Amino acid sequence: MRRKFIAGNWKMNHGPAATSEFFSKFGAELKDAKEVQEAVAAGTEEIAFFVPAVSLLTAVNVAKELPVIVGAENMHWEKSGAFTGETSGPMITEIGATHVLIGHSERRHIFRETDEELNKKVHAAIECGLVAVLCVGETLEEREGGKAFDVIKRQFVEGLKGIDGETLAHKMIIAYEPVWAIGTGKTASDADAEEVCGFIRGLAKENFCDKTAGELIILYGGSVKADNTKGIISQADIDGVLVGGASLKPDSFMQIVKNAL
Ligand code: 13P
Repeated sequence: MRRKFIAGNWKMNHGPAATSEFFSKFGAELKDAKEVQEAVAAGTEEIAFFVPAVSLLTAVNVAKELPVIVGAENMHWEKSGAFTGETSGPMITEIGATHVLIGHSERRHIFRETDEELNKKVHAAIECGLVAVLCVGETLEEREGGKAFDVIKRQFVEGLKGIDGETLAHKMIIAYEPVWAIGTGKTASDADAEEVCGFIRGLAKENFCDKTAGELIILYGGSVKADNTKGIISQADIDGVLVGGASLKPDSFMQIVKNAL
């Protein structure tokens, strides 16, 4: 049985003060949610927050007593050097964060990150002990042009160059986020999301092995809300969700965490 992985991606929201306030409220919500506490303690559900770099230290400190994972939203592939404005993997681990998002669609499309750069980031993350969440997903134009599967295959294969099956299954997560469903209110239908996540599991089988494919955690992201969580999470190849807007408020995110149980 694969564990469920329920994650919030705060994007460029919540500085240190808002982070502190969020976790004190989320902690109170968690106290009342015995079923969530039990699932997390049993290792069947993980709750994670990907927060802005400036809020990482606060998040790690204020969430210390909570059974949640804190991760970064991006990192550079070099450990240090002349890369103004960037954050390295060792800086993230020094703070105490354990996970990192790699290649979120906003990084690919707004900041023009390439598959080659993202592959370097994946290697750098693994090397410094971070769990790397590699994001893949097609644009509306690519979907309408019948290219969705080709795009996802390219992002998967290029992003994972040089990575072995054990690493993929145990030190990585794949998140499928169709670009056209992000922040638009348009969720992929449960069947559409499952079709692509099943395709990704097939890629893991083809490029690695049955065992890796069976163990790989695959997430769906794109306009996930409390009321569509149950349908998405009940799909055979979807193990969790990556939530943007609805993860910014403790109560709406807790409802997603509960609905995913
Ligand atoms: P929304 O949930 O706001 O659509 O964002 C999805 C996303 O990009 C999560 O990484």
